[in-house]
Amino acid sequence: NAVDAAVAVEYALAVCYPAAGNIGGGGFMLFRLANGEFYVLDYREKAPLGASRDMFLDREGNVILDLSTSHVLVSGVPGTVAGTIAAHERFGSLPFHRVIQPAIDLARTGFPLTEKQAVSLNTMKDEFIKQNKSPVAFVKEGDWQKGDTLRQAELARTLEQIRDHGRDGFYRGAVAGMIVSEMMQRGGLICESDLNQYAAVWREPVAGNYRSYKVVSLPPPSSGGICLLQMLSVLEDVPLAQYGWNTAATVHVMAETERRVYADRAAFLGDPGFIEIPVDGLLSKTYNTSRMSDFHPSRASRSDSLPAGNPWMYESEETTHYSVIDDKGNAVAGTTTLNDAYGSAIVVRGAGFLLNNQMDDFSSKPGYPNMYGLVGGEANSIQPGKRMLSSMTPTIVEKDERLFMVLGSPGGSTIITTVLQTILNVTVHGMTMQEAVDAGRFHHQWLPDQIYYEKQALDSLTVRALQLIGHRLQERSPIGRVDAILVLPDGRLEGAADHRGDDTAFGWNK
Ligand code: GLY
Repeated sequence: NAVDAAVAVEYALAVCYPAAGNIGGGGFMLFRLANGEFYVLDYREKAPLGASRDMFLDREGNVILDLSTSHVLVSGVPGTVAGTIAAHERFGSLPFHRVIQPAIDLARTGFPLTEKQAVSLNTMKDEFIKQNKSPVAFVKEGDWQKGDTLRQAELARTLEQIRDHGRDGFYRGAVAGMIVSEMMQRGGLICESDLNQYAAVWREPVAGNYRSYKVVSLPPPSSGGICLLQMLSVLEDVPLAQYGWNTAATVHVMAETERRVYADRAAFLGDPGFIEIPVDGLLSKTYNTSRMSDFHPSRASRSDSLPAGNPWMYESEETTHYSVIDDKGNAVAGTTTLNDAYGSAIVVRGAGFLLNNQMDDFSSKPGYPNMYGLVGGEANSIQPGKRMLSSMTPTIVEKDERLFMVLGSPGGSTIITTVLQTILNVTVHGMTMQEAVDAGRFHHQWLPDQIYYEKQALDSLTVRALQLIGHRLQERSPIGRVDAILVLPDGRLEGAADHRGDDTAFGWNK
């Protein structure tokens, strides 16, 4: 079923897409079963028990540059193995050993690198050598070429431990011992108790209506679902179809919406086990409408004079994603990550897998930007055992209570606006799933006060028109990589893979 496929894909990505697929990182899965029930599984990394609020600051309270991104302290306690096993135990139908075996075979016998993967590994070569004293599978003499075989014998052995002993094959025993010894040798924090105690958590999804659609996505500790629903709540009252796709009027109102929502993200979102989050307030239509009361149709706001709102009053870039639907109508949207490409670049000696650098998703210091330029405050400060705030947004959309779309994306802080635009491209602008995925994207995240855009997203007249009303714009590299499935009116499925990466859409007829 779809869950077997999702778990198999998650392990295959850990082998074949080491930039983001992982067993040393974490993620989230959103399930919609054929009977219409939704479930969220949170296997986000946690701060180790030895972590502390100011661990990335010096004595004067300044952030120590690079400490939260490129030192062994950057790693949160990995969640992927606990998550995939919990998902499979609850909803899988094949035996676990059959689901994980293809990944073991891919690790042992190897697989041919694509052009993009060869370039990416070559770019990281110096970093892998700097971070690892012993040889690692990702470095070879000379450069990688397209078609070269990447074999990962140590990773194959680690996956066999997981196949044979379940979560104990990773969180206890030999593999756990290798993680702890790596930490001890490098001055890291993850200890045996961190590993033994790690558990994936089942959570209630967040859901909201957008016109005739129901949009279901992740609750905290991801900001993705709440931010997406806030944006849709504002935009459903805007005649975007009339404005047209990526015209100045459309981009202006969307960027102003995004600016306000990301300001709220910084102030209010974090791990719900540690802070109180005004979820109902943030999702309230009245609140989101009130946030746009100072919107001016022909003038950009300034982020420095636009703080977060007060939802209490209304109280009630490198990552990877896969979308799966099976013949019975079960659906899974899964997003998983090491954070940065290849995470910390640290390979656990003997175990052959990369450790995440997810601690950078915490706010090291209020107002200080992380690697995505996101700022945060107390809500997302470091505390032992706390999960760092995410932007991952695996999402499922229903129309008339039937499955309509499954989607998600990598892209750090841009994940949320990427998912937003993909939904709007289909539901408002009438695109096919593939057209919606291919279409150019833009992004505003409050701070820095800029609209980032892909070249194909905005023509020069639109850029000029937005500049004239006070927006700052910056063209940038590709934003997001959406892999999505649309259920067509006749029941057929349109899978769309993002040409920005090596992504593939695949289907089987029984
Ligand atoms: N590390 C990216 C995210 O979780 O948002």
